[in-house]
Amino acid sequence: MRQQRSARPRGRRLAVFALGFLGGRLTARLDQDGSADAPSRHSRRIVHNASEAIIATDERSRIVLANPAAARMFGVTVEELEGSPLARFILAPETDHPGPLEYFKADGRAGRRSTDYAGTGLRANGEHFAIEGSIADTPHDGRTVYTIILRDVSERQRVQRKLARSHDQLRQLSSALQTIREEERTHIARELHDDLGQLLASLRMDLNLLEETCGATPHALRLIHGMDGNLLTAITSLRRIATNLRPRALDEGGLYFALQGLRDDFVQRHGIACELLADEAELRLDDQASTAIFRIIQEALTNIARHAHATEVTMNLYRINSELLITIRDDGRGISEEDMEKAESLGLIGMRERVWGLKGEITISADEGPGTRIDIVLPVANHTV
Ligand SMILES: Nc1ncnc2c1ncn2[C@@H]1O[C@H](COP(=O)(O)OP(=O)(O)OP(=O)(O)O)[C@@H](O)[C@H]1O
Ligand SMILES: [Mg+2]
Repeated sequence: MRQQRSARPRGRRLAVFALGFLGGRLTARLDQDGSADAPSRHSRRIVHNASEAIIATDERSRIVLANPAAARMFGVTVEELEGSPLARFILAPETDHPGPLEYFKADGRAGRRSTDYAGTGLRANGEHFAIEGSIADTPHDGRTVYTIILRDVSERQRVQRKLARSHDQLRQLSSALQTIREEERTHIARELHDDLGQLLASLRMDLNLLEETCGATPHALRLIHGMDGNLLTAITSLRRIATNLRPRALDEGGLYFALQGLRDDFVQRHGIACELLADEAELRLDDQASTAIFRIIQEALTNIARHAHATEVTMNLYRINSELLITIRDDGRGISEEDMEKAESLGLIGMRERVWGLKGEITISADEGPGTRIDIVLPVANHTV
């Protein structure tokens, strides 16, 4: 709960405005002065008809006034509310305050978001429910009246919890799909290399044998040479396809060598200078981390080739204690906020998901321009081999 401040959401202004009048009416009630002047009648009507639950207490946390919305919220009548201690209906979330009013009034709460100090409401049927609200005090003749606007936020919290759960499930699904995809790629790359690759290599050897031993005519020789050339092209394509699916270096040499291969391929294909600054010993990581980092950098390089118009790229990977710090910079056109929010683009989303999957942090920016900078911090203590 918070002390009312001048900057309030528009929808609540009326209720807060009413609280000023309410203070006057309440102090009149406290003074046991039965006369109600025009403003207090007016304020009573506003408070009575307000859709928000409004309660006012005296300094001893006794409810001195409540509206029907508050009564509905707690499942009692207005008469039952009035005269009761506030603690019968609102439980303070902290034990170091004797009661809810003390909790709401505690130092340092003023000005903070009301959701920061949501409490627990207690309905007449014993049901607990989440509430939040705002508090305002009205001094009068040396006394203070506290008026509290309350909101039942149990439904909102239920929806938020459901949303968070479904978000978590989506994340798990995405991570499971990434793993399945990676496993399939590894499997296909291995099959291509081991089965088809071996078959093509042995065909080449047979062809060489044929050429040497069968006394082929010049025409047959030309055919054999043509076939050998085609076989060589097929083997090269197959290697390229298998490497694109899953570089063998990732499984056999480790992340550093896989990144070197990626860098070399990038430079050769796109003619963009690319520097890899890393220490092989610092990049001996398990398969999960190695694959994730490789795919993140692969996507970053693909993006640079497709979008950046860059002439120079630097990839920096270094460890500080248990964290791996990765920076990828290019000197291209830079990335904008709109670029990062493109609904149809999945590359950056995938990148972020992989980083979050390893409980790391990622920042993508064009702040320091020219070009784009990606900074990633990954906790790798549990991934070091
Ligand atoms: N290095 C970069 N320099 C400039 N713009 C970039 C860079 N990287 C990404 N972008 C911009 O950010 C957008 C989003 O990138 P993202 O990788 O998410 O999607 P994409 O590359 O367009 O498509 P895909 O889903 O195939 O990856 C890109 O369309 C591009 O406009
Ligand atoms: Mg992309």
